[in-house]
Amino acid sequence: MDKILIHGGHPLSGSIKISGSKNSALPILAATLLTREPCILRRVPDLSDTHYMLQILMHLGAQVERASGTVTVNAETIESIAPYEVVRKMRASVCVLGPLLGRCKEATVSLPGGCVIGDRPIDLHLKGFEALGAAVRVEGGNVKVFAPKLIGAIVSLTGKFGPTVLGTDNVMMAAVLAEGITVIEGAATEPEVVDLANFLIKMGAKIEGAGTRRLIIDGVKELHGAEHDVIPDRIEAGTFLVAGAIAGKGVTIKRVVPEHISSVTDALTACGYQIQCAENSITVSPNGTAQPIELATEPYPGFPTDMQAQMCALLSTTDGISVITENIFPQRYMHVAELKRMGAHMQLEGATAVIQGVERLLGAPVMASDLRASAALVLAGLKAEGQTEVSRVYHIDRGYEHLDEKLSELGAHIERMKG
Ligand code: EPZ
Repeated sequence: MDKILIHGGHPLSGSIKISGSKNSALPILAATLLTREPCILRRVPDLSDTHYMLQILMHLGAQVERASGTVTVNAETIESIAPYEVVRKMRASVCVLGPLLGRCKEATVSLPGGCVIGDRPIDLHLKGFEALGAAVRVEGGNVKVFAPKLIGAIVSLTGKFGPTVLGTDNVMMAAVLAEGITVIEGAATEPEVVDLANFLIKMGAKIEGAGTRRLIIDGVKELHGAEHDVIPDRIEAGTFLVAGAIAGKGVTIKRVVPEHISSVTDALTACGYQIQCAENSITVSPNGTAQPIELATEPYPGFPTDMQAQMCALLSTTDGISVITENIFPQRYMHVAELKRMGAHMQLEGATAVIQGVERLLGAPVMASDLRASAALVLAGLKAEGQTEVSRVYHIDRGYEHLDEKLSELGAHIERMKG
């Protein structure tokens, strides 16, 4: 297994281009199952998660071609069973359920496992499918959904932790081929949900309200092929902004949509960093002494849970007491123990982390555990004195396209050890 070595204390500067969004590409790749015609997707990031999704599509019978960031999918003839051996590697595989139900009126997908950020239920996904008239059976580790036909319905998809992103995606992808009108109340409004809706509309779907809590879908008989450019990855963008804050003297990220990460730039501004936004770039610079802050993760447009670990790394060396509350995945604190091994002072009180900023972190061997926790350890290593060795970097490769290479372009002393 590869490791990443970081020699801390070297300031970052310059600019990098942000890749296409993982969390947009995955459901959009699944949506290509909804048509017999070919679809062309550009700016699909080169990640293990997107590779897993392409494997699933091929296993289902689709033809897939990839040329750098452009992927062509032809799902003319497909089957509707995605077995454990292809699904087990990635929880987001669950988002093939909706398009398979929409296209084939049946689907069998292995249940997603839990993961280190907590239980990952899909009860709201299944509630949406049942509202559309599907029967749902969970047996032998698989979820089976089937319906003689899908009928539009009104359904709320908000649970005790708020809206569901992939649940909204899944039900929307089934509803576009249902008979009649579907109204999804309490829909997720993340930019990735909007990007999927825009792709479906290009395929001939009739969708209104994307980006609002109320989605209205008028089902059609069939969808046609389409071409689409995936939006920039706002979480990669936020991660690099935090890199620029923790160790930078002027870092610019390009090919971004500033409004997609305004909650992150607002938080960094509150911390005392200078943020300059242009049409599709953002520059972060130090601006005197950084300030501690209080943060809570919320559904979009609130502060994203996928940026919580990265902010923990930044605030661990920000003088004063900062408080972060994780409202989406209350257990999402695998990074805390590892940051403490680097000298961070933070205590967990339920879903809240109380962080006492320290003057310096010390490099240490640390272990990645999930995608964003791993990124947080790399960010801490940029600031720490000495060498930090991050193991199990396959977690990083799931969701960041060439993270070490991009940080190296900004001046980080970072190298990947093939293992
Ligand atoms: C998506 O996961 C993202 N993944 C996650 O990013 C992200 O953290 C999450 O949305 C929240 O923004 C992809 O888009 C591939 P949810 P998703 O359904 O859709 C509960 C990353 O690092 N819930 O919005 O699976 C759930 O337990 C990944 O890139 C139910 O209770 O998340 C959570 O507490 C990690 N029942 C909350 O809702 C359900 O049926 C939000 O989950 C579904 C979800």
